Amino acid sequence: MNKRGFASDNNAGVHPEIMKVLQEVNGGHTIAYGNDPYTASAVKKIKGVFGDDVEAFFVFIGTAANVLGLDALTKPFHSIICAETSHIHEDECGAPERWTGCKLLAVEAPDGKLTIEGIEKYMYGIGFEHHSQPRVISITQSTEMGTVYSTDQIREIADYAHAHDMYLHMDGARISNAAAFLGVGFREFTRDAGVDVLSFGGTKNGLMYGEAVLFFNPELAVDFKYLRKQGMQLASKMRFIAAQFERFLDEDIWLTNATHANRMAEMLVEEVLKIEKVQITQRVESNAVFAILPKEIIPVLQKEYFFYIWSESTGEVRWMCSYDTTEEDVKNFSSLIRSIVS
Ligand SMILES: Cc1ncc(COP(=O)(O)O)c(C=O)c1O
Repeated sequence: MNKRGFASDNNAGVHPEIMKVLQEVNGGHTIAYGNDPYTASAVKKIKGVFGDDVEAFFVFIGTAANVLGLDALTKPFHSIICAETSHIHEDECGAPERWTGCKLLAVEAPDGKLTIEGIEKYMYGIGFEHHSQPRVISITQSTEMGTVYSTDQIREIADYAHAHDMYLHMDGARISNAAAFLGVGFREFTRDAGVDVLSFGGTKNGLMYGEAVLFFNPELAVDFKYLRKQGMQLASKMRFIAAQFERFLDEDIWLTNATHANRMAEMLVEEVLKIEKVQITQRVESNAVFAILPKEIIPVLQKEYFFYIWSESTGEVRWMCSYDTTEEDVKNFSSLIRSIVS
């Protein structure tokens, strides 16, 4: 069996219950491209969580969810304000810029969170034809730095966006971890807080693949079916994404998985903080742990457990816990760090 590590929640396999569902829906023929009962049923369940008028579209990957969701909100002369650390800015190979034509305006955000003060630095040149026009604020929940916006912080940004004729987009690749941390349902800090479009993630929390783009204002979704097809994300065998989501939305999957991953991150911090020379650099509010270690031990540790160096300049590394991380994994990993450091 593959050894579990702390490189990414994407490195985990598929949750057994999700695998079971994939088997269950595998029999026989059903209409392709989302015109099947599994997709209808999953969309109904999403509506049950977020409200009847939500428009939901399944796609394959998170980058596509972000890019196509942003595309639906913009024209190429617009700009998108996001955190410097955001996935759309750092880790999507320029796909948002290429696809939407928009300029990304990256705000310095050491803890991954946008603030009104940071956003305001880019709010100039409005109505001036030489300047790209800010149209969307994009936030990530939980952030790329493992921190979580409170519902009030999201509402404040949403109110600001709407007061300036802009939209609020949320990259929810790890939305379950944020909900588990906040102790509330998905709706409270998304739709009810003023988010307009959400990339609703599942892959990092136990799905094989699949994300959903949710529109909380149906008017914004009018052309999305065309954007999705043109964006090469209309799955012919849609039933397999839909069925995963339907099962995922049960609390014994999304909440149990995310709560567990978050708890493993807490435990990892407790363990590594006992080790001299290990510094934790971010608040641990989800399933990510950021640390600074003596530089020379990183390659030694990576031989046993692959993980990513987040910042070459500071030596900051990122460790992610997953739904299947065990207490033993945490203990073994921290013992190894202890033995290498001392
Ligand atoms: C914050 C965030 N958004 C979106 C994604 C989606 O990425 P992918 O296109 O690999 O599914 C990721 C994956 O690492 C992520 O960390």
